[in-house]
Amino acid sequence: MAHRPLVFSGVQPTGNLHLGNYLGAIMRWVALQERYDCIYCVVDLHAITVWQEPQELVKSTREVAAALIAVGIDPRKNIIFNQSQVPQHAELAWVFNCIARMGWLNRMTQFKEKAGKDRENASVGLFAYPTLMAADILVYRATHVPVGEDQKQHLELSRDIAQKFNNDYAESIAGNGHGTEYFPLPEPLIEGSATRVMSLRDGTKKMSKSDPSEYSRINLTDDADTIAQKLRKAKTDPEPLPSAVEGLKGRPEAENLVDIYAALSGSTKEAVLREHGGAQFSAFKPALADLAVSRLSPIAGEMRRLLADPAEIDRVLADGTARAAAMAEQTMDDVRDIVGLLRKR
Ligand code: AMP
Ligand code: TRP
Repeated sequence: MAHRPLVFSGVQPTGNLHLGNYLGAIMRWVALQERYDCIYCVVDLHAITVWQEPQELVKSTREVAAALIAVGIDPRKNIIFNQSQVPQHAELAWVFNCIARMGWLNRMTQFKEKAGKDRENASVGLFAYPTLMAADILVYRATHVPVGEDQKQHLELSRDIAQKFNNDYAESIAGNGHGTEYFPLPEPLIEGSATRVMSLRDGTKKMSKSDPSEYSRINLTDDADTIAQKLRKAKTDPEPLPSAVEGLKGRPEAENLVDIYAALSGSTKEAVLREHGGAQFSAFKPALADLAVSRLSPIAGEMRRLLADPAEIDRVLADGTARAAAMAEQTMDDVRDIVGLLRKR
């Protein structure tokens, strides 16, 4: 059965958005609105799988919503909202907790990384994180999910959950008039430059909000001087840039900066090296800083403007919530019928 093309993606309101979030995810979300109906969600329920200061969480939720609008996502054409406002996400996640197997979740590398050595002390929510993510996507029966490379495994799990639901309830799905499959198998959209932006301090680690060093990442709200300084101090090697991509092998820091340049300029690593091959980092870093500032400072400015009026952001979220909830409740009605839970009356 053909499912209507629909894009869904989410971002956690945990601290500042950084260049990895921008290049790996939300910059792409902007382009997708031309071709698809899109739903973009600030996933506050995912955020609390690890401890969040309540006041900070509220602030971050509005900040991330502002960032989505500031980068150019049109909240009238698309849906922007925060996850906890639409309880159907949590409701479907429970059904999916009963579909997914312990063994599937045990294989998730993000859980292993985030739980670290002390797994016994990780929250149950952190373990079940991927089933909630599957519910986020499938409660809208979304078909395409633009994310960074790090989310690929979670997307595969979402497909496995959709598939097992469709199989386990095949008879009931058909009996309720939904054909042969109820949920689509959502596809990841991970392509082009900078699907995995690395730390500026260590080219083998991904750029992350949880890195203790501020110099490891560029935040969307950093000012021009901070951006230039972080790039000046970025770890590199003593060689000049190569003139072809093969020359980046074994030079993760150099490769990362070239990749960032390519993504920010809407070009490719090949093209960047054609132009900058042979350059020393003392010349390339300032060029990259200029480019980054020219792309990021308008976003930071627009975010500041939006955050000056939090009530307006709340209105955007409330409008998104109403439209999202209407779609999500329709799915939950179907799911209740399919699973054998009494319908709401
Ligand atoms: P998070 O803030 O962890 O919720 O991530 C939001 C989005 O940013 C997801 O699509 C991630 O895959 C993406 N993302 C996070 N870190 C990076 C990175 N270092 N490089 C590329 N994409 C990233
Ligand atoms: N797990 C994602 C991340 O950390 C965020 C997320 C939650 C998400 N639900 C989603 C992304 C649904 C895509 C679709 O980056």
